[in-house]
Amino acid sequence: MTSTAVLFHAPVHVKKVERKQEILGTSRCKLFPVRACSEKVDPSPRASRVLLPPRNYWANPERLVLTPRHEGIYTIDRSYIFLSFCDVGARCTVIVKPPLDASKRPELLLYSPLPIDNAIRKELDKLGDVSVVIAPNNEHVDFVASAAAAYPNATILGPTGCKARWPNLPFDSDTFADDGKTPHPALASFSEVVTAMFVPSAPFFNETVLIHKVSRTFIVCDLWWNWPSLKDTQPKGVELPYPTRAFAFAMNRIYLPFYNRILVQDREAFALFMRELLDTKFKNIIPCHGNCVAEEGWRRVDRFFPSFLKAL
Ligand SMILES: [Fe+2]
Repeated sequence: MTSTAVLFHAPVHVKKVERKQEILGTSRCKLFPVRACSEKVDPSPRASRVLLPPRNYWANPERLVLTPRHEGIYTIDRSYIFLSFCDVGARCTVIVKPPLDASKRPELLLYSPLPIDNAIRKELDKLGDVSVVIAPNNEHVDFVASAAAAYPNATILGPTGCKARWPNLPFDSDTFADDGKTPHPALASFSEVVTAMFVPSAPFFNETVLIHKVSRTFIVCDLWWNWPSLKDTQPKGVELPYPTRAFAFAMNRIYLPFYNRILVQDREAFALFMRELLDTKFKNIIPCHGNCVAEEGWRRVDRFFPSFLKAL
């Protein structure tokens, strides 16, 4: 299987997008409309399913509102239409923090939010209260307004300098302090559940990744991606569309070397971070784009950055 990672979304059309969100209750970027949420709710007894346009099937084969991944981890899997024709898929990860006091409700963390529609909100309400929302890097800020509107009491965290860079988005703070090591207190309150790490020396992204401790799951945005290759077996009828295959090929063969050679500024600092990350020996991977991994996850990522790791 070919795996890969990085970014591609475009600059945010803040005012227009936010205005549309208010009107439509969902987010549709002008250039990259997200066919993200259910437009019709399945009337069948399987209330957790939604109807998605056919070309969305690969990103959410079971057509679930929420997909349970591991204990205390769920994902919202939706189509993400790039350049109006290429469905690259997008995924929001939901982390559940059990309450210390049994009389209280669990808290939820949303990593890389997608538009929150009524079906998603209903399912999340069953799990707990959303208290933290993280836009994990500079390319995944589009839908924080939707999450903030749905959960006004949540702390909205973003990449370095987010409040100045996107003054019209409802960010409360950077995810990390200037040292790149100290997470915001709202995120630190999840420290028994997840380890948060800032990816250094790649300011184009300024990405935050998470390690879910109990399940040993690496939750990642654009540092690593995993679109299925032609060799991978997909459920019948949900094969990767040809535009998406072409996009994945371009990302793996063209963009990844560019990312590794140009976008990383301090190769040694980046390599040290990658070694620290891989030393956690995470088992599972939940990327924002492409298939999840449920075995030997750290080996998959290890093969992704050979030019850095060989230098250590
Ligand atoms: Fe992305």
